[in-house]
Amino acid sequence: MSLGSVVVRAIWVMLPAYLPNNIAVLVGGGKPIDSGRKWCGKRILGDGKTWRGTIGGIMAGILLGLFQNQMHNLLDVSLIQLPKLPLIVTITLPTGAMLGDIVASFIKRLLGKDRGESFLLIDQLDFVIGSLLFTGIIVPNWFGKIFTFEILLTVVIITPLLHLSTNLIAYLLNLKQEPY
Ligand code: CTP
Ligand code: MG
Repeated sequence: MSLGSVVVRAIWVMLPAYLPNNIAVLVGGGKPIDSGRKWCGKRILGDGKTWRGTIGGIMAGILLGLFQNQMHNLLDVSLIQLPKLPLIVTITLPTGAMLGDIVASFIKRLLGKDRGESFLLIDQLDFVIGSLLFTGIIVPNWFGKIFTFEILLTVVIITPLLHLSTNLIAYLLNLKQEPY
């Protein structure tokens, strides 16, 4: 596979994992998941992890995955070999992404970092680690077939770049308080 098709293929399979965080920024707010509860004197997750953001983000990721499969039927993808996403994968990719983001907030609070405080590489990769782990555990056969070493490496390299650029856009549009 050429470098170009590896990158396109990596982005294609990760799209349902990339969308949820961005949608959460748009629709988030309201009741926090931890309901304001504290553990050892610190918030468990913080006000940045809400039910609305989490559920909205997951739903958006599922819808995107289903839409991609519709596109797959229409487009001739033989050149770049874009895979179809099994229904279960359209669910595990965005759900794992949101779980990864939530676990990262938990770790940030444990380390005494305030909501929105930067945590380099974790902020940019938490959702990827979450979606890959969750998908790998629930659908190991599909995961092993699609996520070859070169695809995984590509994902790890391009994700922080994509994430930083979309966050910068959200910041410039006043949707996010920090540009990271
Ligand atoms: N958001 C949400 N629910 C989620 C994830 C995100 O409502 N599960 C919304 C919140 O409004 C949040 C914004 O999206 O403030 C940005 O998300 P993120 O950067 O992950 O949260 P932070 O506010 O930076 O908080 P943390 O330090 O816990 O990452
Ligand atoms: Mg943040």
